[in-house]
Amino acid sequence: MYKRLIRPILFCFSPEKAHNMTMRALRATRGFRLCDKLIRLVFRRKSPSLRRSLFGLEFKNPVGLAAGIDKNGDTYNELSRFGFSFIEIGSLTPEPQEGNPKPRLFRLPKDRAVINRMGINNKGVAKAIDNIKANPPKCILCASIAKNTSSAADSDVVEDYKKAFSHLYDFVDMFTLNVSCPNVEGLRNLQDVSYLSDLVDPLLDLRVCYDTYKPILIKVSPDLDHDELNEILNYCMLSGIDGIVAGNTTISRGGLKTKPSKVQRIGKGGLSGSPLFNKSLELVRYIHQYTKGRLPIVGVGGIMGPEEAKAMLEAGASLIEICTGFIYEGPSVVKRILKSLK
Ligand SMILES: Cc1cc2nc3c(=O)[nH]c(=O)nc-3n(C[C@H](O)[C@H](O)[C@H](O)COP(=O)(O)O)c2cc1C
Repeated sequence: MYKRLIRPILFCFSPEKAHNMTMRALRATRGFRLCDKLIRLVFRRKSPSLRRSLFGLEFKNPVGLAAGIDKNGDTYNELSRFGFSFIEIGSLTPEPQEGNPKPRLFRLPKDRAVINRMGINNKGVAKAIDNIKANPPKCILCASIAKNTSSAADSDVVEDYKKAFSHLYDFVDMFTLNVSCPNVEGLRNLQDVSYLSDLVDPLLDLRVCYDTYKPILIKVSPDLDHDELNEILNYCMLSGIDGIVAGNTTISRGGLKTKPSKVQRIGKGGLSGSPLFNKSLELVRYIHQYTKGRLPIVGVGGIMGPEEAKAMLEAGASLIEICTGFIYEGPSVVKRILKSLK
């Protein structure tokens, strides 16, 4: 039904408008318990073989929703009905920010891909906390956090992550540090280990002050070379980072079926969806081999169905996330993946 009816309608609108309409429609069903139960029943795929124990958390299955869909943490319960065991909200910054000028989200249907330069538009951490308080999560909630675009000095950047981390600590189950978004000036430089340790060490110190342990993962870019990646992985294994999210969107435009003139017209942004899959798969495989499986990996990038999901898990991912696949394939993609993994 999604591909035949809902998607053609949504694709008549600009991608950002379609996204906002979908999120609003999902939220409009809040409070209708029968509707909630029905959707959960339709999309449910429960099996002991799907369960994963990781970071001290119990995931009912290995499939989550990647950052970028529920930017403000206001729709995670409605989204979790489709079978996701965890939802990554955000990325959230300490202060609200508009993101980049529109248009900033583009579909490449021939490639089942998307290019975005959203620029981490979000309503800020305080608003997300209000949302979470009003809607106790029915799934594992992961907060992706980032710096505000306006924070440029090194000390401000560290303060931003500390602020977002400490404010959200009591409200979510785990954290991802977004240091790999290609759409915020200078953000990817934080992957340089000299910066990364200045940023992450204070968060690890802060965590010790809390009674409960919340896992911290780092989301890396698929565009890193092996030397850069090795440095990050060595740091992660020594420092006590719990895992890696591999990975974010790519700035590469290789192998696209879409006309080069169209791609050129779109301009800057991170590419996601089907053409990203091989790159993400290689990233996951490399991290798994380099770390000898000691660092849990959340595999994300180009997972559009069961085949890619299986390959990601076989390459060493402990969990997987979907983003663009949800836009092109619709909510049943989760069920299809879980059915094939069962
Ligand atoms: C519109 C859009 C917005 C995104 N926003 C974020 C974000 O705020 N933070 C983040 O870490 N990743 C963000 N991402 C990246 C996704 O979480 C994911 O890593 C990437 O899209 C690759 O997965 P996919 O091929 O399944 O989409 C965004 C992706 C898209 C398409």
